[in-house]
Amino acid sequence: MTDEELLDAARVVREKAYCPYSDFHVGAAILDEQGQVHVGCNVENAAYPQGSCAEAGAISAMIAAGGKRIVTIAVAGGGENKTRACTPCGGCRQRIHEFSDENTRIIVKDDAGEWSTFTMADLLPASFHL
Ligand code: THU
Repeated sequence: MTDEELLDAARVVREKAYCPYSDFHVGAAILDEQGQVHVGCNVENAAYPQGSCAEAGAISAMIAAGGKRIVTIAVAGGGENKTRACTPCGGCRQRIHEFSDENTRIIVKDDAGEWSTFTMADLLPASFHL
């Protein structure tokens, strides 16, 4: 599974996003330590705080399938004419952190094709853990 293939999986699931309130479609794809891929998209709700992020959905799918660690997570986000890459929100950085290690990579790509790779330390320095 290449980074490009994982980004493609994130782009494909982004099409399934349920986001009538923000119109901001996000897809996430995780490659776990077993080489399995798990995807998720954002699912909004009329009671706004009940909505969930794409990364949270992909993490739930990984855990339900028996995956333990995030090797790479790819995030594709944005709606029509929103080409800026979608980096994980603050809450999702903490969610990803729970299942990451120093080698975990977070990759984001915008609709113009520009992509960036981050580590957990880049996105969540001095992070909280028990
Ligand atoms: N969203 C995600 O799915 N992941 C993020 O990391 C950032 C935000 C979603 C939540 C909401 O449905 C929409 O994008 C706009 O904030």
